[in-house]
Amino acid sequence: MSKHIGAQMLEFPQSGDERGHLVIVEGMDDIPFNIARIFYIYGSGSDVVRGKHANRKSEFVLINVAGSCKVKVKDGKGNEAVFVLNRPHTGIYLPPLLWKDMYDFSADSVLLCLASEHYDAAEYIRDYDEYVRMVNEETT
Ligand code: TYD
Repeated sequence: MSKHIGAQMLEFPQSGDERGHLVIVEGMDDIPFNIARIFYIYGSGSDVVRGKHANRKSEFVLINVAGSCKVKVKDGKGNEAVFVLNRPHTGIYLPPLLWKDMYDFSADSVLLCLASEHYDAAEYIRDYDEYVRMVNEETT
């Protein structure tokens, strides 16, 4: 589904038993990178749009460990796809250089973000026009 854009839904192993659910995510195994950083987002209103950037280097996996949200990804070349995150054992893999918006947060949404890199503001592209110029220059 929408693989052409580079983003991909992932399903993680569940090892639950009668005590409850357990979901395991190991770097370089369940996801294609080593985890250098985690952060999580909660308390965003249903009218809030977060993200609105692309990353030159970082790869991410986003998991709604509670509640739900949507992720819209664009490649700057006219392709876009919307993914719904609403199950704690599924996530979306986002390679570098995709534009991403997160929105439609449920009131109970807790969006866990796994990143391949430590935070570096310099690798964030926050201007959409600049992003479109960049990705189109790179392939011409
Ligand atoms: P921002 O990138 O706007 O968050 P989101 O993409 O989820 O909407 O980040 C908000 C602020 O937090 C911004 O000033 C950068 C800072 N920040 C860090 O210092 N470290 C981090 O790991 C992240 C994700 C953000």
